Amino acid sequence: MHVLILNGSPRINGNTRKMVAAFCEGLEAAGHAYDVIDVCRMNIHGCLACEFCHGKGNGRCAQKDDMEQIYPLLEEADMLVIASPIYYHGLSGQMKCTIDRFYAALYPKKPGKLSKAAMILSSGDPEMYDGAMFSYQGDFVGYLGLEDRGVFTVHGYDPGVPDEKLEEIRAFGAGLHA
Ligand SMILES: Cc1cc2nc3c(=O)[nH]c(=O)nc-3n(C[C@H](O)[C@H](O)[C@H](O)COP(=O)(O)O)c2cc1C
Repeated sequence: MHVLILNGSPRINGNTRKMVAAFCEGLEAAGHAYDVIDVCRMNIHGCLACEFCHGKGNGRCAQKDDMEQIYPLLEEADMLVIASPIYYHGLSGQMKCTIDRFYAALYPKKPGKLSKAAMILSSGDPEMYDGAMFSYQGDFVGYLGLEDRGVFTVHGYDPGVPDEKLEEIRAFGAGLHA
């Protein structure tokens, strides 16, 4: 299985990144291929709603930025993992720009192989996930019909991610099957 993980946290040693790392350890143990894309370290602009992609562009975006590295990975992926801190009750802005740019490649239909999704979220306070879940359930599970393989959350400002949570996520990656 090929897994595409989009990390929407700018903090290189933040909780989101730690959970992503544990997930990747599990994927490696199970022999899955994966790509981790740190969208905050890329040059990704918001969607311009120019509709070039749904006209002359035939699925290609008019903007030439680092999304060009992500579009081919969406074609290859069996599973998409959205990993993000919660900012103002939703996904990070960098992640939102990336998702909006899916409009060229995932609307009106998804690439053929993509069939599964999961989400990894980090917040300061507990129970802060309604905004991110609305997007995940509405856009990825509902609209695109991806199979929800799980949502993993951790909260707290400083203590980092408890070992048990990292182990849970590692085991999730190791236990994935097509
Ligand atoms: C701009 C900004 C907005 C935030 N908004 C929220 C919020 O609405 N609710 C919340 O619980 N935490 C909020 N936080 C805290 C982060 O979600 C929390 O620190 C998280 O662990 C960051 O993830 P990271 O460690 O992967 O960077 C916010 C942090 C920032 C920088």
